[in-house]
Amino acid sequence: MEKMNLFNVDNLVLMKGLPDESIDLIYCDILYGTGRNFGEYQDLKPVRNIIEHHYLPRIREMHRLLKKTGSIYIHCDWHINHWVRLILDEVFGYERCVNEIVWCYTGPGVNSQKNYSRKHDNLYLYSKSSNYTFNTNDIKIPAAEDTLKKFEGAGSGFKGKKANLANGKLLEDWWYLAPTARFKNETGLYPTQKSIQLLERVVKASSNEGDTVADFYLGSGTTAVVCKKLNRSFIGCDINKNAVEVTARRLRSF
Ligand SMILES: C[S@@+](CC[C@H](N)C(=O)[O-])C[C@H]1O[C@@H](n2cnc3c(N)ncnc32)[C@H](O)[C@@H]1O
Repeated sequence: MEKMNLFNVDNLVLMKGLPDESIDLIYCDILYGTGRNFGEYQDLKPVRNIIEHHYLPRIREMHRLLKKTGSIYIHCDWHINHWVRLILDEVFGYERCVNEIVWCYTGPGVNSQKNYSRKHDNLYLYSKSSNYTFNTNDIKIPAAEDTLKKFEGAGSGFKGKKANLANGKLLEDWWYLAPTARFKNETGLYPTQKSIQLLERVVKASSNEGDTVADFYLGSGTTAVVCKKLNRSFIGCDINKNAVEVTARRLRSF
């Protein structure tokens, strides 16, 4: 039976009390450095030394907590992704960057005449070593019908290619997924809630059943819900009491 552990505490305090190399996967949808007040929490200001002061000790702890086969996803956007990436390079090593995933979406935005509409987030995937869990087959997506058709009448030279496509193709490092607001049965729990669909990709790709997954910026607990669904143990925390309560309720009703 998988364990679900939730704590209402500053993540640095929680992490300092956890043992070395005890976690298989960390996903954190962090503070984006917008300076905004989201009602449930106050975001950090986009000032380099504020960002470094917050993230450097925390990302060092995350590195210590990961098993040798483990990996980490840090979810952020254009406001501070450049500084976060430098910290990840410093702590994990430049060569441990596995992917920069770009999550693209559409929807109404600020009607500015001076810039493109900002409609993507960045997820940085780093591994602790070169021997890390990555379940390619669990995240393959079906090839488009017209692509399969193209190979239907093709000669024997294309047989292998056709068989591979029929089994699904390797997921790209850009994901076009609807924002959470489009999922009526999931939305409205938290201002920056992420979708189950997005987290399912992360958890399936980078952990196995029975593994331990952590999210130290819990929010409404989407990562916890996905872990329960996919039989992973979970540890998570949020400094906001209401976030932990929302997550606990979601887990009870799941
Ligand atoms: C972007 S939200 C996470 C949203 C979440 N992914 C979801 O699906 O609902 C970031 C969360 O981090 C929490 N947080 C900020 N600083 C924290 C800290 N030092 N320790 C623990 N949680 C923190 C905030 O209260 C907020 O709930």
